[in-house]
Amino acid sequence: MSDAKRLFFALWPDDDVRRQLAEIARKQLRGKGRLVAPANLHLTLFFLGSVTMQKQEATEVAAGLLRARPISLTLDQLGSWPKPQVAWSGSVQTPSALVDLVDLIRGAMVNNGFKLDTRSYKAHVTLARPVRWEAHDFCLVESITHPDGVEYRPMRRWRLDG
Ligand code: 2AM
Repeated sequence: MSDAKRLFFALWPDDDVRRQLAEIARKQLRGKGRLVAPANLHLTLFFLGSVTMQKQEATEVAAGLLRARPISLTLDQLGSWPKPQVAWSGSVQTPSALVDLVDLIRGAMVNNGFKLDTRSYKAHVTLARPVRWEAHDFCLVESITHPDGVEYRPMRRWRLDG
């Protein structure tokens, strides 16, 4: 049995920042995707992927040896990426303390055998993701009119297994 876990380094917002981010997402992105649950909002520093317990311990030791400054972040930018279709909150000007921390973590993780993401790093908090739907059947639906509205009732289904 594998003891591997999927891990990443992140800045984890305090409750006040989390509440503000969730409020922006609710107000600005309503109907524009599936909002990330407030408890899950974060800013990724480095994505590790699948990590064994042994590797996790070495990674934690390496992280503990890093010396970096506190980071003052201004999340003043709302953006979206067309390819993964996510909406995010970020900073027009990424603070140098954040760039330095990411560089330090990257260097330490490369020394520990992790691969660098080939994409350039953009500090962001993902606020909304697209709704994904895998349809594996289609159906015949009866439309029933009631005095107080309409009801749709799927009656038969056929697999999409061609
Ligand atoms: P995202 O929010 O832009 O999707 C956990 O999945 C976190 O790690 C997310 O913040 C995600 O960024 C980030 N991440 C970076 N590289 C990733 C990868 N290859 N697979 C999954 N998540 C990744």
